[in-house]
Amino acid sequence: MSSTHVAIPEAPSYQRVYVWQWPIRVFHWITAASIVVLFTSGWLIGNPTLVSNGEAWEHFVMGRVREVHLVAAMVFTLAFAWRSAWFFLGNRHARSGFPYFWKPSWWRNLVTQGLDYLKLEAGTPHLGHNALAGLSYTLFIIGLGLVQIFTGFALLGQAQPGGLSDRLFGWVLPLLGGAMRATAWHHLAAWGFVVFVVLHVYIIFIDARQYRNGLIVSIITGYKFKRRRAAGETSKANDD
Ligand code: HEM
Ligand code: HEM
Repeated sequence: MSSTHVAIPEAPSYQRVYVWQWPIRVFHWITAASIVVLFTSGWLIGNPTLVSNGEAWEHFVMGRVREVHLVAAMVFTLAFAWRSAWFFLGNRHARSGFPYFWKPSWWRNLVTQGLDYLKLEAGTPHLGHNALAGLSYTLFIIGLGLVQIFTGFALLGQAQPGGLSDRLFGWVLPLLGGAMRATAWHHLAAWGFVVFVVLHVYIIFIDARQYRNGLIVSIITGYKFKRRRAAGETSKANDD
């Protein structure tokens, strides 16, 4: 009886790599929570559907909603400043995916990543942010974040003419054609965050399934998993 030898491929082994330092993870969840509070309270400010029974002087519902919005706005702005500082103070993953528009390699990464997602193919795994993720954080979180901070503090300055907010950001109102226009831009940008969150969470789940590198838990624990090269295999991983 001839014995046939079936080569059982070696199961891939993974290495645990520390990617997201705690300042990034803290930033992430504080920003996520503050954006949910800002959007909800902001939506209520734009559509004051909450009514209270009894005399108006006995209640402060919309005043409380505005208060919640402004507290969350301070938290959002502080987290924004903290992450901007950590871009320089953090490890190299804290700068990963940043859109280096002037580098052809960045554009190549962007296109490859986009095609990989569309084809649902596990292309080059990244430890840090890939080019597409980096671009989305830059446009949505940095870009829209700055719109909200500048228009928001300018709107806040109206309540205290000559106060700090008004002196630092008051110029935004005439620039945008007045307070109503600034409110409209602030409201429009708010919906931009909804688009971001839907895309972000959807792509996070696709990416986690495609690359099997522990992406989702990584923003809680800080660790990602990198596949070890099998004997004779050339590295596909991109460690940035
Ligand atoms: C309001 C909701 C959310 C916002 C605004 C948000 C925002 C962000 C931002 C700004 C980053 C970049 C982190 C940095 O480099 O500083 C990020 C990364 C990440 N987020 Fe979120 N996030 C939200 C919800 C979630 C949820 C619900 C999950 C998980 C289920 C999640 C998982 C991740 C992961 C895994 C990363 C790292 C992705 C990568 O490698 O590029 N996020 N998110
Ligand atoms: C992700 C960030 C933010 C979102 C999604 C957001 C959303 C909104 C929305 C939807 C409104 C209602 C606009 C309307 O009347 O139609 C609003 C109002 C306002 N927001 Fe924000 N906001 C954000 C950040 C900020 C920041 C950083 C500040 C800075 C202080 C701020 C200050 C204000 C002020 C002063 C108003 C006007 C409130 C009033 O009319 O009583 N917001 N926000």
